[in-house]
Amino acid sequence: MLTIVSCTAETTAPKSDATENKSADQVDLAPTDSQSADTQAVEDQASDAQPADALPVFTPEELSKYNGKDGMAAYVGYEGKVYDVSKIKAWKNGIHQGKYEAGQDLTDILNNVAPHSPKNLTDNAPVVGTLEQN
Ligand code: HEM
Repeated sequence: MLTIVSCTAETTAPKSDATENKSADQVDLAPTDSQSADTQAVEDQASDAQPADALPVFTPEELSKYNGKDGMAAYVGYEGKVYDVSKIKAWKNGIHQGKYEAGQDLTDILNNVAPHSPKNLTDNAPVVGTLEQN
């Protein structure tokens, strides 16, 4: 009886060590299809590294809160994305050229009315979300 107990303990310990070492190596290197738990761990790390995937979706009502007034940030919608124009001098207090206001989708105005390229927006303002599509 004593011999059987001793054997069990010896075989269990090395197996456990081997599994831990293998698992750590696979997370550091590339994921393998054969180890679903490790693959899941790597996928989780990948999504943490790509916050663009997790950007919030704004309804028109939510976007309207970000009008640049009373200390709120100034966001504008353009072609399905939401841009933060708070740090752009030409958008001080959420107003641009005395008449265009933040907190709304300005795709049509930027594409058809503005005398400048949409790059004024897309090159200078960070994307902070996406616009809900109807
Ligand atoms: C959704 C975003 C934007 C819209 C809809 C928009 C629209 C317009 C419009 C319609 C005008 C002409 C105003 C008028 O003469 O009545 C204008 C002028 C101007 N905008 Fe914007 N704009 C946008 C973003 C920006 C950004 C991000 C900047 C700066 C980084 C900028 C800088 C200027 C400047 C400097 C002028 C006056 C000089 C010029 O005509 O080029 N705009 N914008």
